[in-house]
Amino acid sequence: MTTERDIDHAAGVLRAGGLVAFPTETVYGLGADAANAGAVGKIFAAKGRPSTHPVIVHLADAAQLAVWAVDIPEAARSLARKFWPGPLTLILKRARGVGDAVTGGQDTVGLRVPSHPVARQLLARFGGGIAAPSANRHGRVSATTAGHVRREFGAAVDCVLDGGASQVGIESTIVDLSGATPALLRPGWITAAEIEAALGTRLASPAADAPRAPGTLAAHYAPRTPLTLAESDLAIELAASLVRQGKRVAVLARSARQPLLQGLEWMAAAQDAAGYAHALYANLRRLDESGCDAIIVEKPPQAAEWAAINDRLARAATGSSVPDET
Ligand code: TXA
Ligand code: MG
Repeated sequence: MTTERDIDHAAGVLRAGGLVAFPTETVYGLGADAANAGAVGKIFAAKGRPSTHPVIVHLADAAQLAVWAVDIPEAARSLARKFWPGPLTLILKRARGVGDAVTGGQDTVGLRVPSHPVARQLLARFGGGIAAPSANRHGRVSATTAGHVRREFGAAVDCVLDGGASQVGIESTIVDLSGATPALLRPGWITAAEIEAALGTRLASPAADAPRAPGTLAAHYAPRTPLTLAESDLAIELAASLVRQGKRVAVLARSARQPLLQGLEWMAAAQDAAGYAHALYANLRRLDESGCDAIIVEKPPQAAEWAAINDRLARAATGSSVPDET
């Protein structure tokens, strides 16, 4: 899929200040040289993202932490040892010289060592940090395939590396270690309980103790079609009543019993959290593109391993009332 030559080419595009979309194990990233403010600015322009939203800097390995952060607590090193390379982002005090373009003017920086082999090859070849938010228009559903990225950005991205479908499917867990108490800023596939077990302390809730992560705005990850989250029985009832009103309805279902209704697009999601997360954004994109008037999502369980999925679905539901990119 991706050859050595592709990696060489992509590293050259980054050095020249261009944009490279690349696969990670969570979602695809829209990358630029993190040390080049002009290049990072292109990410914001392509995404339509407000310049105050900080972007994560991706690194080849934990040894590069000291280039980007200062006052690195032991907790950061132990989380890095346990979970990197992998779907975890650490918020640390930024080192001098880390640009406002990356940090959104905050005194902290988000750092992550991804595990996807193509991301790792690109980072190794490029040598420096790659600033990369998720490769989607601001506020919209993240991309988990190269095709999603191409459809979303077209020629606005200089190079798209294809690494297949992202395995995890939802964005990294974000832990803020820049303050007195570690705080969970964004739930992800690595659960709060796993982080707490590794740290030996409880995580503060983000509202209480941490700087606000702008990307955790309520309206996010949203398809254009209005999306409603509903408990099992209600989901089917709601779908049926909308269909009776002549609406075309798409359902992302967990139950197997598909009602026989004309005008109903039924998509059966995986029963397990890993499978559900892996396919979530591709499913939402497909339902969004199906031309329906409404998307109904059958609520998953409230268990810990579904926390990150429930977080994204709740934001997608809020966000779908937003008419367009904000
Ligand atoms: O899995 C991921 O994290 C993916 C892949 C591409 O690595 N990236 C991603 O980036 O989800 P993005 O920009 O869509 O979301 C990053 C989140 C945003 O909510 C942003 O506000 C927050 O991280 N963030 C980044 N730097 C921060 C900082 N210094 N302080 C607080 N929040 C920060
Ligand atoms: Mg994002």
